[in-house]
Amino acid sequence: MLDLLIENAKLAGHTQLQMIAVKGGTIVEVAPTIEAEAQTKIDADGSFITAPFIDSHFHLDSALSYGQPRINQSGTLLEGIELWGELKPTQTVEDFYARAMEFCLWSLARGTLGLRSHVDITDDKLLAVEALVAVREKMKPYMDIQLVAFPQDGFLRYENSRTNLLKALDMGVDVVGGIPHFERTMTDGAESVRQLCQIAADKGLLVDMHCDESDDAMSRHIETLASETVRLGMQGRVAGSHLTSMHSMDNYYVSKLMPLMAEADIQVIANPLINITLQGRHDTYPKRRGMTRVKELLEAGINVAFGHDCVMDPWYSFGSHDMLEVAGMGLHVGQMTGVEQTQSCFDAVTKNAAQTMQFTGYGLEVGCKADMVILDCQSAFDAIRLRPARLFVIRGGKVIAKTAKATPQVLIDDNVVDIDFMPSGLNR
Ligand code: FE2
Repeated sequence: MLDLLIENAKLAGHTQLQMIAVKGGTIVEVAPTIEAEAQTKIDADGSFITAPFIDSHFHLDSALSYGQPRINQSGTLLEGIELWGELKPTQTVEDFYARAMEFCLWSLARGTLGLRSHVDITDDKLLAVEALVAVREKMKPYMDIQLVAFPQDGFLRYENSRTNLLKALDMGVDVVGGIPHFERTMTDGAESVRQLCQIAADKGLLVDMHCDESDDAMSRHIETLASETVRLGMQGRVAGSHLTSMHSMDNYYVSKLMPLMAEADIQVIANPLINITLQGRHDTYPKRRGMTRVKELLEAGINVAFGHDCVMDPWYSFGSHDMLEVAGMGLHVGQMTGVEQTQSCFDAVTKNAAQTMQFTGYGLEVGCKADMVILDCQSAFDAIRLRPARLFVIRGGKVIAKTAKATPQVLIDDNVVDIDFMPSGLNR
């Protein structure tokens, strides 16, 4: 007896509709026809099924704090930092926990079952760390959360950062973070990268730094991050988040930098919604887009994921944690409208992000974990185009979230016409 049998699902790479059999939380068979009894059956009715969305760059400690203690009136990064400075001392462990838990339910509703969250450790009481470690444990049956020890006010710039970071790691935080472009000088930035990578290497941990989140073409900490990665033998275990300065760098320099990044197998995480709104703010016209060179990095064989970064917090007032909104923005900002590029944008919020987080058993093949999302559309292309309902969100073979289909109806010439936003002349 199977635990779950999904029928009539549209899988990427298959022309025929497929059935997916689940037992013991694992996918045990994928085939056009499966003859077996199952405790639960789901008829996907031709809808597209995918492995879950993964957000590899987020901040749970600030999420959903919109309006507390006030709204960011200018919408700028600087006012956002000011606001966070006002909000942080007012927050209790319970406040951090409640907002993060509420947010995680939004994630589940959107089919996001993997999340890497940075947590600010430049607070000597480490209240957010305490809260988010508890959230990670509470949510374990539903989603996989990784926490990054993030020295928001600078690793060398904030005097207690090292002590706090080591303490946060002892409390169970998974990944070593950093913010080299925010240190006092370029030299300090490079030194912070060296010290933080050494801590991670000594403890056998992954690294994920906010790196070069700047329009300054001379912000080149990614070079140090990549060379330290090679020196310490940490290839594939180090992520560079944002890397927006690469947008503005000289092409000749980038032609030397990208092979070094490939050699270090740096995991790149762009944050399209945030990059397009926060970068280029000092420009008049033309205004730079600010997002890193996604297309070129992918062409160089470097893994690129997209993160949401923020939802309704001091830096970004918008969002509902829909990773398809992120993929769509990445596609537009990066001008990635080609067929393979569109698929790459979908991968950036699914399998590429799973690789960045070093998940095992991710995918829809036999032997993978039975984590899946059935979307009210036919393909990854339409998922990005329509941002459709997550009809079923499945974790370990169990349905943990549902959204009903919403079909708009148009009344015209006394007729009711159902609208599915698919051209009737298109051969599916
Ligand atoms: Fe961030």
